[in-house]
Amino acid sequence: MFFLVAEIQQVVEWVKLGDPSGWRVDGDPPGPPRAFAAAPSKHNGFGAYFRCPGKKMQVSQAVETRHTVRKYQTTPVPRHLIEQLLNAALMAPSARNQQPWKFYVLSDAQKIAQLGTAIEKLAINPNLAQRKENLHVENVIFYDAPTVLFVTRPKEASVFAELDCGLAVQNLLLTAHSLGLGTCPVGLARMYGKELVPQYVPLRADEEFVLAITVGYPVPAGVNPAHPIDTAAHVQWIE
Ligand SMILES: Cc1cc2nc3c(=O)[nH]c(=O)nc-3n(C[C@H](O)[C@H](O)[C@H](O)COP(=O)(O)O)c2cc1C
Repeated sequence: MFFLVAEIQQVVEWVKLGDPSGWRVDGDPPGPPRAFAAAPSKHNGFGAYFRCPGKKMQVSQAVETRHTVRKYQTTPVPRHLIEQLLNAALMAPSARNQQPWKFYVLSDAQKIAQLGTAIEKLAINPNLAQRKENLHVENVIFYDAPTVLFVTRPKEASVFAELDCGLAVQNLLLTAHSLGLGTCPVGLARMYGKELVPQYVPLRADEEFVLAITVGYPVPAGVNPAHPIDTAAHVQWIE
């Protein structure tokens, strides 16, 4: 009850402090705020990217309002923000604290475009052409994101290594969202890019590529709408 009241007070504070014309993240230069990046979320009605100066997003709010982003502004993401994302990922729990993950950061627009285009040619998915047309993106694998992260794990790893990587990735996605950044986990890069990714990412021979993640400032049209949550199908309370 106390936490609920505290959370409501926090939201009321955000609304009072908020700039109705947009939002800011720490470190933004002076000038007009960023435009709202998403329509109001089904969950909280305040908008998925509602941000106020100096206010940190609560974990519960980040969980409820994060959605995959499939279109990005060309603005590069500053290195200190990428470092913040990576630090969040590295803080994740892992089986026997083995921390099997490794993250590679690619922010070279030309290389991202080349790799994305090469994977796109191999990716046979009827939804992709439609998605490309709807979103008006050059590349429907990395969605023209200014940064792409590549997560790997050792080939010889614990049975939990991929789960560990998943936990690290979720930390990263939520932190990105809380900073006003959008992300998309890109499984297609793994499915179709096994041979291509090592041409751009200096993987060691004993490393397995797990997942790519796009990172960038969201464009409103690229934010995935809130999807229904079917608790009955996914949860069973055992009497
Ligand atoms: C492991 C994994 C792989 C994914 N691969 C892709 C992908 O290749 N391309 C894409 O556009 N979205 C990809 N997604 C994003 C999912 O489509 C998205 O998370 C899902 O539709 C739920 O939407 P939400 O993230 O907005 O809640 C992937 C998500 C996960 C967790």
